[in-house]
Amino acid sequence: MDRFNGSARLMIVSDLDSTMVDHDDLDNLSLLRFNALWEAYYRHDSLLVFSTGRSPTSYKKLRNRKPLLTPDITIMSVGTEITYGESMVPDTAWTQYLNQKWSRDIVTQETAKFPELTPQSEKDQRPHKVSFFVEKAKAWEIINVLPKRLEERGVDVKIIYSSGIALDILPQGAGKGQALAYLLKNFKVDGKVPMHTLVCGDSGNDAELYSVPEVYGVMVSNAQEELLQWYTQNAKNNPNIIHATERCAAGIIQAIGKFFLGPNVSPRDIRDFQKCKVDIFSPSHEVVKFYLFYERWRRAEVEKSEQYVQNLKSVFCPLGIYVHPSGGEQPFHQCIDSMAKLYGDKQGHQFRVWVDRISSAQIGSDIWLVKFHKWELSGNELQCYVTTVLMSLKAELPDGFSWVHMHQTWLDDSRARDQTVWCF
Ligand code: GLC
Ligand code: MG
Repeated sequence: MDRFNGSARLMIVSDLDSTMVDHDDLDNLSLLRFNALWEAYYRHDSLLVFSTGRSPTSYKKLRNRKPLLTPDITIMSVGTEITYGESMVPDTAWTQYLNQKWSRDIVTQETAKFPELTPQSEKDQRPHKVSFFVEKAKAWEIINVLPKRLEERGVDVKIIYSSGIALDILPQGAGKGQALAYLLKNFKVDGKVPMHTLVCGDSGNDAELYSVPEVYGVMVSNAQEELLQWYTQNAKNNPNIIHATERCAAGIIQAIGKFFLGPNVSPRDIRDFQKCKVDIFSPSHEVVKFYLFYERWRRAEVEKSEQYVQNLKSVFCPLGIYVHPSGGEQPFHQCIDSMAKLYGDKQGHQFRVWVDRISSAQIGSDIWLVKFHKWELSGNELQCYVTTVLMSLKAELPDGFSWVHMHQTWLDDSRARDQTVWCF
């Protein structure tokens, strides 16, 4: 990864369903807590890797439904597909490697002999992943018999059972753990092995992540029986693996604290930044904090106080200009007045704001260029604003940064052009 020089401070490798994403948490609060933590303190020098059983298509579907950050690396289809960056460039060397002793046709022929195996839908079948549903009682029998039969036909497979229902057949060299080991090997060649790696999961297909040497691991509190059983049998004495007491993304945050991997208090958990001073000053933290305030202001979760409006006016440079996606312009202080009037307009509504892909560069002795995606979910409307901000360092301000200029563009032009109020 060329986003920064040298090794990542922390690499988080996390499963999505029931680990990063809590399908029972309709407000996505623990995920939003993780997002704020990551963007404020980790994005600039750490790596986020999503490792999912989902195919690329079904991963994209999840991204459209849940406030997932953009990962640096995506491992999909149970470790059989790896892509890099925002544009998801596939790792073709990995795909090539998986062709060894693999034949999808032979796997399909041999599995057809087991009527208990119900094929998963077409969209979940991938070049190096053949997937079925099967009940627990039958699964173990198949796991014992099938690999030998395939071996006789020259095919070397790995069978993984997850969530007490899903059975995946992959090439022997595939799997989430093998994919991670491959990434680490490549980092080593480049002299960029992350300082710490934390793996996070909840079900059977995550088990091999915890066997990768030198990683920390967290099984979220809601982990499936088959993963906990694997842990009891294989890794119980490993002090670097914990079973969190918190669900999903909250369990990941808990593990960051437990293993002392870095800041573990999400800005979302800080109600009042005036009272609770965080001694990390960075443009990223500044952006995360501002949009949390913006969300809380509109949800009426902070006090309606003129003091807050004045504070904003001291942080946003009086000469500063906001360029709206439509191309129109407005002085910052006018935007703040518009925002002040919106107090509580989203009270009792579904309204969340989060930022993704924050990057910043010091472009002068006291000036920073900050870029990020600002996402706003309002009811069923989801909007993304690609945002650029100039910030300058001002020692006299409480957090040191002054917003000097801001420009936004709609990521998807077709969305909600009828917005009448312009504010950040
Ligand atoms: C995901 C995939 C599915 C797979 C399961 C377990 O749900 O969509 O195909 O069987 O993970 O790995
Ligand atoms: Mg899962």
